[in-house]
Amino acid sequence: MPQLKILVGTMYGGALDVAEQVKPLFEQAGFGVDIVEQPTLDDLTSDEDISLFVISTTGNGDFPGNFVPFVRGLSDKSPALTGLRYGLIALGDSSYGDTFCGAGRKLDSLLEDHGARRMGERLEVDAMETFMADDAAVPWVEEWIEEQQIKVA
Ligand SMILES: Cc1cc2nc3c(=O)[nH]c(=O)nc-3n(C[C@H](O)[C@H](O)[C@H](O)COP(=O)(O)O)c2cc1C
Repeated sequence: MPQLKILVGTMYGGALDVAEQVKPLFEQAGFGVDIVEQPTLDDLTSDEDISLFVISTTGNGDFPGNFVPFVRGLSDKSPALTGLRYGLIALGDSSYGDTFCGAGRKLDSLLEDHGARRMGERLEVDAMETFMADDAAVPWVEEWIEEQQIKVA
């Protein structure tokens, strides 16, 4: 069974909640799914796997604390991620202006810099518009699975 990892960056649990809500959608598509709450580079193990990042922004466009080790690993080891295919859901709040979804956007360009390939567009969920992030994330993931044809069966 192919594996999909959901790597979470969260301060207050919203991104983790999104991960838990979308997990069954991937399972129905034939994937074994792991939610990783303390992600590090070591979680990117197999070239065959797809990863989904679900990450909020804190401070002033900053990465959530639990996601810092992952980002530090990227800058310390500068690995080639050419085998990595990923999706990205960024949680933010447009009232923060220029730093809206800053962590998700920075992560996206870091992954691209290391050769990883994003599947589809990035989803940005604005807390000003969507009170519960899963309301936006669940239909997006349903469509994403369909569009990317990552169904196994
Ligand atoms: C102290 C603080 C700082 C924040 N800074 C930003 C920011 O710079 N940019 C942004 O888009 N959202 C910012 N947010 C909004 C959060 O990213 C948003 O509420 C998100 O849904 C939180 O998700 P989480 O529960 O997974 O941490 C901030 C929220 C807090 C409480």
